[in-house]
Amino acid sequence: MSLLEIACLVTCAGLSLAGAAVAFIVLTEGRYLGKSLVRWLYDRLAGALAASEDTARWDAFLRAVPIASQERMLDVGTAAGHLPLAVAGKPGFQGHVVGLDWSLPLIQRAQQQVRDQGLAGHTAFLVADARDPLPFALAPFDTVFCLGVLDALPQPEERLADLARLTRPGGRLVLSLSRRIRLADRDYAWFRRHLATLGFRSVERHGWTRLYDLVTARR
Ligand SMILES: C[S@@+](CC[C@H](N)C(=O)[O-])C[C@H]1O[C@@H](n2cnc3c(N)ncnc32)[C@H](O)[C@@H]1O
Repeated sequence: MSLLEIACLVTCAGLSLAGAAVAFIVLTEGRYLGKSLVRWLYDRLAGALAASEDTARWDAFLRAVPIASQERMLDVGTAAGHLPLAVAGKPGFQGHVVGLDWSLPLIQRAQQQVRDQGLAGHTAFLVADARDPLPFALAPFDTVFCLGVLDALPQPEERLADLARLTRPGGRLVLSLSRRIRLADRDYAWFRRHLATLGFRSVERHGWTRLYDLVTARR
């Protein structure tokens, strides 16, 4: 279950005004109240997010986005590392997946989970703010994931260009597209236009969850 889904559940359950306030802050991702408050909330929710692994969601993801056994991958906004865990836990996986998030408590949870599951050799995690250029040399990754994050970032064209920079020629970019909540004008047409400008081809949309579709593109 994603943070977005948790926030929606809390609000829908009508548990409290505080629940609605959390949902508002998370859904608007600091647009009105500042990014420090959003990061602080993610830090506080780290335990709940780590415990909320939804195997069916990641099974559906891996059906929509098949992973080769040797791939080098980056997951931007990895939260408690559920995607790296799903990928590295695939039988026969020999590649490497790096999870990046701006929340230290979430990254610590991710590190604990990969250690517990004996997957630390195929994963690495780091704390970084995706609002800034990401700390990697040119195009080191076969696949770059950015799920449930891009909507929240200012200057999305620049952020998309930075994700493109990290994708090797011939590699893939995998993004999420919100189906229900559109806080900005980032619809499928927006992705197609900007990905084409960045030299991506084969832009495709795939169903994923009730809340998100996936957009995949090859560089
Ligand atoms: C809605 S959750 C999505 C988590 C995961 N990618 C998924 O699809 O389940 C958003 C994640 O992005 C992280 N995040 C939000 N803004 C970020 C930023 N500026 N830099 C790095 N991580 C960020 C949050 O800490 C959180 O873990």
